[in-house]
Order: sequence, then structure tokens, then C-alpha cells
Amino acid sequence: MFSSTLVIFSSLLCHLQAAFAVPGPSLISGQSITLSRRQRTARTVEDWAAWAKNEREALAVKYGGSSLSKRSQGMNLITNQNSDDIYFGSIAIGTPPTAFHVILDTGSADLWVADANCDTGCSHNDTSYNPASSSTFQNLSRPFSATYGSGRAAGDLFSDVVQMAGFSVNNQSFGSVTETHGFLFSPVSGLLGLGWQSIAVSKEPPFWQTLASKGAWSEPVMGFHITRYVFIDDSNAQFLEPGGSFTMGFLNSSLYTGSIDYQDLVSTPGFWTLPLTKLTIQGTTVSLPSGSASRAAIDTGTSLIGGPASMLQNIYAQIPGSQPGTGDWQGYWTYPCNTTVNLTISFGGPSWPVSPTDFQMTQINSSTCVGAFFASKPGIKGGAGWLIGGTFLKNVFSVFRYSPPSVGFAALSEDALSMNGVDGPPPTATIGSIATSVTASPGNLTSGRVVWTSGSVCGSLLVGCAVAVGVLLL
Ligand SMILES: *[C@@H]1O[C@H](CO)[C@@H](O)[C@H](O)[C@H]1NC(C)=O
Ligand SMILES: *[C@@H]1O[C@H](CO)[C@@H](O)[C@H](O)[C@H]1NC(C)=O
Ligand SMILES: *[C@@H]1O[C@H](CO)[C@@H](O)[C@H](O)[C@H]1NC(C)=O
Ligand SMILES: *[C@@H]1O[C@H](CO)[C@@H](O)[C@H](O)[C@H]1NC(C)=O
Ligand SMILES: *[C@@H]1O[C@H](CO)[C@@H](O)[C@H](O)[C@H]1NC(C)=O
Ligand SMILES: *[C@@H]1O[C@H](CO)[C@@H](O)[C@H](O)[C@H]1NC(C)=O
Ligand SMILES: *[C@@H]1O[C@H](CO)[C@@H](O)[C@H](O)[C@H]1NC(C)=O
Repeated sequence: MFSSTLVIFSSLLCHLQAAFAVPGPSLISGQSITLSRRQRTARTVEDWAAWAKNEREALAVKYGGSSLSKRSQGMNLITNQNSDDIYFGSIAIGTPPTAFHVILDTGSADLWVADANCDTGCSHNDTSYNPASSSTFQNLSRPFSATYGSGRAAGDLFSDVVQMAGFSVNNQSFGSVTETHGFLFSPVSGLLGLGWQSIAVSKEPPFWQTLASKGAWSEPVMGFHITRYVFIDDSNAQFLEPGGSFTMGFLNSSLYTGSIDYQDLVSTPGFWTLPLTKLTIQGTTVSLPSGSASRAAIDTGTSLIGGPASMLQNIYAQIPGSQPGTGDWQGYWTYPCNTTVNLTISFGGPSWPVSPTDFQMTQINSSTCVGAFFASKPGIKGGAGWLIGGTFLKNVFSVFRYSPPSVGFAALSEDALSMNGVDGPPPTATIGSIATSVTASPGNLTSGRVVWTSGSVCGSLLVGCAVAVGVLLL
């Protein structure tokens, strides 16, 4: 059922997320190449340029390094917070490593975590970064400040060893923030931007992009499978539940069926932006805007779907009894809960169905529900008209591909679907055994010499492992 307090909290979270999920690119691709890669449209000049650059860098790694270039793949278990509001994973920073729970956000490109001196918006129950406790800390002596719609995170820009899912970047820059507004709900104490460097507020190479560009991955892809808890079985969902998985360097083929449909990014890689080409609701095709208003940022850091207000009007017009929300629900629409809303979205390939469960964001009284499509502010996310968040992403397996820069979707497998709504302990923070370690390049991520090291095994961060694998260098 529902309670009004919960509804407001949820509404607040959604607003915050809509606001914060500002930055965020990502990519996917995978090992699915043998399975049926769909026919691609002709490559653009940009595609070829990106391919050429990646090829050059991969070769530089291959032949410029010492004896071996170890390509790897890694997996990080995700936690689902507050019935699909936030999906977070775990990373480790410093020597010895400290574990942080971080929002995985393809809608931004900076990494930041709470600083030990954070005095605003951080929970002191959660991990924070203390420069004095890490032997590999470096002060980049620049302020860091990221603004996400109505949210903000600010502090200093540092660099240190950052590890995740078996990968390590030994001088990854990150914001150590002393002030955050609107984002952190315990136990989360940071955010990992999975978008492209071109939209990084710090201008520094994102963790994932350093790994991809240096050829650290077996395949140049990141894969997401996220779970659904909202309104399943009357919702006995706990605040934290298993959230699915995030992979780098490979795609877990047991989580999807059929082929992955890749679509090229609309513009120069920044946000992970695709054209939204077709949307149907209750069997009717809604006419969509063209040009930049049709651009959709695929954003794991947003829980709902944001779109241009005029489009939302056309969408909700297909649901008898719907009306624009007022008060706290300004920007949202209400509709009769007894309507099963069937909706599909296409980005140029197949039309992907969104389950009626996900369309129904919440119920506010016995007969009235609120839809998951809200009016986003124009001009956010690089001018994208649409923000495609969890409401859509829970329905597909998603791939964020580095090269060629594209986003792919596939149908979820029975295995993946069977994880929805299953109550269980949230995963503990792990970084896995560090198999591959690289050094960040300054500026443009041009090639550098990289020495790959295989590190000691260090399982759970909570157990602690004093590794500092890696090390590299020029
Ligand atoms: C912090 O931890 C204390 C003791 O475990 C707990 O009572 C409190 O609710 C926690 N605060 C937050 C914000 O999680
Ligand atoms: C980092 O550098 C800035 C600017 O030089 C300075 O204000 C700050 O105190 C330094 N922080 C640490 C932890 O060294
Ligand atoms: C792939 O997903 C399945 C189903 O969750 C899981 O059992 C398996 O361990 C995963 N494989 C890898 C390599 O992560
Ligand atoms: C929605 O889809 C379900 C299942 O396919 C179907 O039974 C129902 O009639 C559809 N409702 C509308 C309004 O199209
Ligand atoms: C939904 O409920 C309203 C009353 O709350 C009723 O008028 C309407 O006919 C119902 N629609 C369906 C499809 O059951
Ligand atoms: C439910 O809320 C809607 C929107 O606030 C309102 O119009 C409607 O009268 C309410 N219905 C009931 C049964 O309280
Ligand atoms: C990482 O180290 C390399 C090599 O020492 C250096 O060129 C680069 O600027 C460093 N990057 C950061 C973010 O510290």
C-alpha cells in the first residue's frame, strides 16, 4: 500500500534525481559480437575517427608497454536503494583502500566522494576520504564543484589509487567534497560518473574512460542489469535490496537474450545520447519533436523518465482521466490507477516495452496514481530533451560502448527477470582481485606507456587488503 509520508519522500527523491542526474555518459558493448550483431548503418566520419583513435591507443598499449598487456573483465554487484530510486555500486580509494558506496551515473562524468571534513549533506556513519590516511594521496590543488540541477557537491580535487571490479587506476582524480546538497542517502557516500570526459566538470579523465582507452578491457563495453522492486507483491521491499550488476570489459550473456541492438550516439560523445525516434502508448504512436529535443540521455543516475512538457501532454492525452499534477506533483501527471499503461520506446531499432508497473511511479490515494514521465527542464544534459532513467532501464539489459561510441539494448533473460522483487541481503562492498592497473593520462587521454600488473587477490574490502597493486609507469 502507500503512505503519504512515503510518497512525499519518494517525490522529493525523484525531484532530486531529476536534478542531479546531470552529467552522465556511458557506453556499452560486448562480447555479444558473435551473437548477432545487427546490421549497422554506415559509419560516420566521427565513428571512424573514434575507431581510429581507439585502435591507435590500443596498439600503443600493446606494443609500447613492457611484456604484456593484460585485458580483463570485471563485475560489481549493485544495490537497489529505496525501491528503484538509486542504484549504487562499490569502489575503493587510497592505500590502504577504503570502500565507498557510489551512485553509478551514466549521466555525469566526475567521481566524487565525501571528504572526512564534510560538514554539509554527508552522513557521518558512512565512509569518507581522509587524505592523511592514504600513502598515495596527491593534492591537485584545484577546487571541485559540480552542480546538478538543484543539487551541488563541492570540495577539493585530489588524486589517488581508485579500484573497482578488478581494475585499478593508480592516479585517478576525484572530488573530495565537504558539502553536498540533495544526493546522499546513507550508506551512499559518493558518485561515479560513467559519462565521457568532454562533460567532466573537473575536465579530468573518468575512471571508466581511462580503462577503456588504455585497452584494459577485453571488450570496450560496460553492461547494466538493474532490478525492480517497486510495487511487486504489495512491496515488502526493504530500503536496500540486491540491485543487479554492472560489468566492465564484458557483458554477462546469461542476463540477456537475443541480440544487442546498438545505436550510435547522436553527437560527439559526452552524455550517452541517442535519438528517441518512436514512442507508443496504448497502441497509439505519439508524434515527437525532431532536432535536439528528440535527443535522449540514457541515464542510470535518474530514476524516472523526463521529457519536454509538450510531449508529455501528448502522451498523457492517451490515458483517459489523466491530469497535470499540482503542488508537490507539479511537473508530474496523475492518472486513474485502474488503467494499465502500455508503452514502448524506440531509439532507432526495436521498440522496447516499458512495463505498466514501471509506468506507475506511485499511488497517492485509492484511485489516483502518478506516472513516471515528468516534465524535465529544457536544455539539461547537453540539450537533450529526454532523460531516460530507471523507469526504462529496468526493462532492458543496457550496454554503454566505448568504441564505436554507442548504446545497446537487449531483452532481459529469464534469469535476469527472476531477480526482480526478490528480497535478499544487499551486496557487501567488494572490489575483487585487482587484475589490471593503469595510470591516468592528463588532458585528452592520448596514449601513454602502461605497464600491466597482476595484483594480489583481495576480496572483500571490508576485510581490508593492503594492496597497492599496480604501479606504473612511464
Ligand atoms: C547512524 O548510526 C546510528 C547507530 O548505528 C543509527 O542509530 C543512525 O540512525 C544512523 N544514522 C543514519 C543517518 O543512518
Ligand atoms: C590541497 O590544496 C589546497 C590548495 O592548495 C589547499 O587549500 C588544501 O588545504 C590542500 N588539502 C590537503 C588535504 O592537502
Ligand atoms: C552472470 O550472471 C549470472 C546470473 O546472475 C551469474 O550467476 C554469473 O555469476 C554471472 N557471471 C559473471 C561472469 O559475472
Ligand atoms: C496492455 O497490454 C496488455 C497485455 O498485452 C493487454 O491485455 C491490454 O489490453 C493492453 N491495454 C491497452 C489499454 O492497450
Ligand atoms: C476506473 O475507475 C473509475 C472510477 O474510479 C471508473 O469510472 C472507470 O470505469 C474504471 N476504469 C476501468 C478501465 O476499469
Ligand atoms: C485522489 O487525489 C486526486 C488528486 O489529488 C483527487 O483529485 C481525488 O479526488 C482523490 N481521490 C480520492 C478518492 O481521495
Ligand atoms: C597520472 O600520472 C601520469 C604519469 O605520471 C601523469 O602524466 C598524469 O598527469 C597523472 N594524472 C593525474 C590525474 O594525476
